[in-house]
Amino acid sequence: MNGFVPSFTDASPVPCRTLYNGSKIPAIGLGTFGSDHVSAEDVAGVVKEALKLGYRYIDCAACYGNEKEVGRELKNALDAGLPRGELFILSKVWNDCHAPEKLIEACKKSISDLQAGYLDCYLIHWPFPNYHAPHCDVNSRNPDSRPYIHEEFMASWRAMEQLVKEGLVKNIGVSNVTIPKLELILRDARIKPAVNEMELHPTMQQGQLFQYCLDHGIQPIGYSPIGSPARPERDRTPEDICDIEMPEVVAIAQAHKVHPAVVCVKWAYQRGQIPIPFTTKASNALSNLKAILDDSLTAEEMDILASCERNCRLIKGQVFLWKGAGSWRDLWDTDGSIPGWNGYKG
Ligand SMILES: NC(=O)c1ccc[n+]([C@@H]2O[C@H](COP(=O)([O-])OP(=O)(O)OC[C@H]3O[C@@H](n4cnc5c(N)ncnc54)[C@H](OP(=O)(O)O)[C@@H]3O)[C@@H](O)[C@H]2O)c1
Repeated sequence: MNGFVPSFTDASPVPCRTLYNGSKIPAIGLGTFGSDHVSAEDVAGVVKEALKLGYRYIDCAACYGNEKEVGRELKNALDAGLPRGELFILSKVWNDCHAPEKLIEACKKSISDLQAGYLDCYLIHWPFPNYHAPHCDVNSRNPDSRPYIHEEFMASWRAMEQLVKEGLVKNIGVSNVTIPKLELILRDARIKPAVNEMELHPTMQQGQLFQYCLDHGIQPIGYSPIGSPARPERDRTPEDICDIEMPEVVAIAQAHKVHPAVVCVKWAYQRGQIPIPFTTKASNALSNLKAILDDSLTAEEMDILASCERNCRLIKGQVFLWKGAGSWRDLWDTDGSIPGWNGYKG
């Protein structure tokens, strides 16, 4: 495949967005979750190619089980002349490391594995300290699982703030939170979250949360931007809709002579979130990068895609439910309040 950027010392063609504190973040990133079936080496191989193409934001997480392999490719790129300041390396603390001392340790391990010196952004991956074993089935429940307990979350957040103070991390953020949780977090944070990584694709637009984030200076990062067609079995239910088969998405793709996945990426970029598509193929990484650089969707096409909203949450998170919880909807505060237990009052 032709290199999109001739060498690491040339500037990436990817435009940046500006976070509330002035930090720059590339307007598209590369996902690295192999959905439990793409090997760490294969993911690292795509990272290597994507960096050559001009990707600078790599969306990592300890629980993806591939930070060492990804880190090796980051180091190779840095050694080949890519300035560290151009990279945006994001990682996330996993649910079994929310205790403040464990969180700091987990962050240091990610920094070491990723060989990045520091992280550009660190997120609390889920607002629940609920561990589930890798590859577990959808009905598996950890008896130690608990609902969102704000005081505990804030203890973790203080550790996140400490990471910023110590210079280990430039920005901190949240993921998989809701407006009721953000209201509490924003009330009590000393350093406000810079980003919220949330599920965003044409059939799951989360309009209220998206707007809330923008109104509060929090940059939305859109995960599963293509509707995660290769997601693990535990994240599939019969009522799920496939974004890249939606007639509206397919028709717009035909008009632009691109794959429907590319339309999803264009929509995400033009709407204002930062899409982080995953792929196993360098050719698709290139298509996704080009998606934001040329041939924009028209205002009419954006309106058509806005009408594709079906509130179709794909990553429901059932495995994080605690004993006594109702359905997976309890994780998402769908009635506007945070479900708890034992008289907990949010
Ligand atoms: N914060 C969180 O809790 C959270 C949760 C889920 C995901 N994430 C992040 O979001 C990233 C992306 O989400 P995802 O992995 O669930 O799914 P996704 O990016 O929506 O979909 C990835 C799938 O789309 C296909 N694809 C990508 N580009 C394509 C193109 N141009 N043409 C055709 N097909 C294309 C890929 O197939 P090929 O391999 O064949 O290209 C792959 O199967 C993850 O990797 C992870 O970094 C975060």
